[in-house]
Amino acid sequence: MKQRKELYEELLQEVESVLDGEKDPIVWMASLSCLIKQKLHFFWVGFYRLAEGQLQVGPYQGTLGCLRIEMDKGVCGTAVARRETVLVPDVHQFPGHIACDTNSESEIVVPVFDREERLRAVLDIDSDKLDDFSPLDQHYLEQLVARMRDIEWTRGS
Ligand code: SME
Repeated sequence: MKQRKELYEELLQEVESVLDGEKDPIVWMASLSCLIKQKLHFFWVGFYRLAEGQLQVGPYQGTLGCLRIEMDKGVCGTAVARRETVLVPDVHQFPGHIACDTNSESEIVVPVFDREERLRAVLDIDSDKLDDFSPLDQHYLEQLVARMRDIEWTRGS
């Protein structure tokens, strides 16, 4: 079986070839959710966008996500407040965790910035295994999300 590092390396190449030059946020979020889910099989992969003072669900793959999250709530809101990636080895131990699906055991949320360092969205990934995310996941997911800096965020909205 391939190591997760190798899978992420393949994913980076796939993202380069599929999304090179793409500027539309919906196209990016939909395609990246799909590519990550197909490659790594986490049960929920998707985006929440900062809009109207809330986090609103964006393109995702998985079971039904919460539609709207208040800005300071949950793991997603914590990543927004800190402007950094949050790794949660056991969601049951995270105060304020929002359970959209009871199968979630661990979670990682990575902020998505534009080229002016404005926070535009978060990438949220849920696993049905405890302690499924490590600094390796953080490293590669931050690299993937860094490819989203040149998106024209006002398009398609
Ligand atoms: N668990 C997240 C909510 C979103 S779902 O995981 C899809 C949170 O606590 O912010």
